[in-house]
Amino acid sequence: MILPIFQYGHPVLRKVGVDIAADYEGLRELIDNMYATMYKADGIGLAAPQVGHAIRLFVIDATPMGEDYPEVADFKRTFINAHILDYGPDTIETSEGCLSLPGISEPVRRSTSIRMRYMDENFVEHEETFSGYQAVVVQHEYDHTDGKMFIDHLGLLRRKLIRGKLSAISKGTVKVRYRVQLP
Ligand code: NI
Repeated sequence: MILPIFQYGHPVLRKVGVDIAADYEGLRELIDNMYATMYKADGIGLAAPQVGHAIRLFVIDATPMGEDYPEVADFKRTFINAHILDYGPDTIETSEGCLSLPGISEPVRRSTSIRMRYMDENFVEHEETFSGYQAVVVQHEYDHTDGKMFIDHLGLLRRKLIRGKLSAISKGTVKVRYRVQLP
């Protein structure tokens, strides 16, 4: 089932997500629906708060970016109860967008390496280091589960410049190709 994507201004996007247990009701279906919703909207990642659940769950399929960034050529993964243990010192700036912020794309600087503990969809625990564009995509989605969005990383001037766009998104006056949930 395709779910509506919650748009900027909705309070659920600002909640810190909680860890979930393996028996979280409807988890299997929620994960399937999140992938379907992400693909329908041409996204490469989607976090549970973006479909109204303030829990630590996100899905990524960055394989469409494999031509630009070979490290994500087969990067498709479900992340549950993820916690970043370390941010590496080196950074990279890439242009980011977000299905909760349609029409906005801004350069964001992030660590090129992170060490993270998470569980996969079978609740098997992993401790893994992600590098390059993998690390960038993971940090973007991980931020959502902490109640953050990529615009939080922008400087004051850039934020001022997009204020009008943000207000339009939350009012629903931005044209969007996918189903949305307004604040
Ligand atoms: Ni996003």
